[in-house]
Order: sequence, then structure tokens, then C-alpha cells
Amino acid sequence: MIFAHISDTHFDGGERARLRARRVMTWLRGMPLDAILVSGDIADHGTEAEYEEARSELVAEVPVLLLPGNHDVRAAYRKVLGGNGAGDGVDQGAGGEPINSVHRVGRVLFALCDSSIPGRDDGLLAPETLAWLREVLAGADRPVFVGLHHPPIRLRHPLLDSIMLGEPDEFEELIRRSPGVVGVLAGHAHSAVASTFGGRPLLLAPGVVSTTRLPWATPGELTWANTVDRTDPPGVSFHVLDDDGRLATHFRIAPEPA
Ligand SMILES: [Fe+2]
Ligand SMILES: [Fe+2]
Repeated sequence: MIFAHISDTHFDGGERARLRARRVMTWLRGMPLDAILVSGDIADHGTEAEYEEARSELVAEVPVLLLPGNHDVRAAYRKVLGGNGAGDGVDQGAGGEPINSVHRVGRVLFALCDSSIPGRDDGLLAPETLAWLREVLAGADRPVFVGLHHPPIRLRHPLLDSIMLGEPDEFEELIRRSPGVVGVLAGHAHSAVASTFGGRPLLLAPGVVSTTRLPWATPGELTWANTVDRTDPPGVSFHVLDDDGRLATHFRIAPEPA
């Protein structure tokens, strides 16, 4: 089982974001993958036009699984993307409730959670999302990857740490008590990071649209403007789940189109 994990495409109608996403997807479409996961901030402003763009660019022969981030807007996301792409557990919500979805892909399950709080940049798993996840994990008949946009840990980056997932303790306890969880996958930081959460791997995909500079490698004052690196190439994580249940993750940058 091999799948690609990308994040933070931030489609905004502009050429730059579109070409970076296209560069990644063109590369991935040539690979024997089982799925592609995009862990949020699909759109930059959350307009329907941006989701139309996402729908036409985030296309592959394998399931492309999406979840929302803080830049996404539930109503427009639902209207254009239908809650989510492929899979058998497509989000059924119609209103402003969290967009949670579950997908069986081969011998694994993806439980994708909406960690966004409408109108805010930090995140939270709402009680209904935690209850939903608890039910999914309890009934899982195969290994589970849990996806969400906001990392549930501090990254020791003062700016990023102000907009991480709030109140992660109950979530962490749930992961710890769910032996079927292989790993937790997130985005939002625009930075490839490997850590642990609830005793399982926590893996953050690099950003497609930009990379966040490390605080100790940021020239001058640490401001949002200074911390965004738009020249770093778009990155991808490849998660390889072996037959013995062991996970190995490879981080790569997408090559320039020929
Ligand atoms: Fe983002
Ligand atoms: Fe984000």
C-alpha cells in the first residue's frame, strides 16, 4: 500500500498556485499509487470558483481524498466537491456542520476529520467530530489512517503554534486507545514534519503552495510575511504501509515539468 500525501494547495484563481498543484499532480499521476490524500487548505479564500479549480486539477486514476482546512469554507466546499471525492463514506452533511468522511482504500481505512473552526485559523475537533471518529475507530475492520488539517502538537514555531489544534488531549487519548490506528496525517504547517501523537506516527505533509521557514532560519523579524518561502519547490510525502503493518514515509519535492 503506497499513497501520496500533499497539503495546502490554496487554489486562488491565480497561475502560481495552479501551476504548483499541477506540477505535483502531473508527477503523481505517473506513479503506481493506491490513493492521494490532500490534507486541507484546498482553496485560499473558499470561493466556489476556487473549488471548481481544485476539482479540475486534483484529478487522478486513483482516489483523491480531500479534507478541509482553515482557509476552506464548508458551504462552498460541499457545494462543489460534494463533501469529498471518491470513497464509500462520503460526507452526507448539507449545512455548516463539520465535513468528516471515511474511505476504504484497499486494505486500509481513511478517517478524515474536519478540524476547522469557521472564521478562525486555529483548529478544534468539535464534540460531534470526536464522537464520529470514536465510532469509526471502534468499528474499523482494517488499519486506519486518521487525517486532519491542524497538527495536534506544538511545532516550536511561535507563529504556527498560535494556530494549531486546540484541546488535543481527548483526541490523543482516543488515538492511544485505538490499536488499529497506523498514523495521524496533517497539514497546515506547510512543513514536512515527523513526530508522534498518542504513541503513533504523526506526519505533516509539506506545503504545495509554499514552505514555512524555520524560526531559526528566518532572516530578520519573525513575521508571517518573513516566514513564508515561496521559492521552495512543492513537496510530497509518500507513505508506504508494509504487509507487516510497518509504516515508512519518504519526503520528496516534485520535479519541474519537462
Ligand atoms: Fe495552508
Ligand atoms: Fe491551514
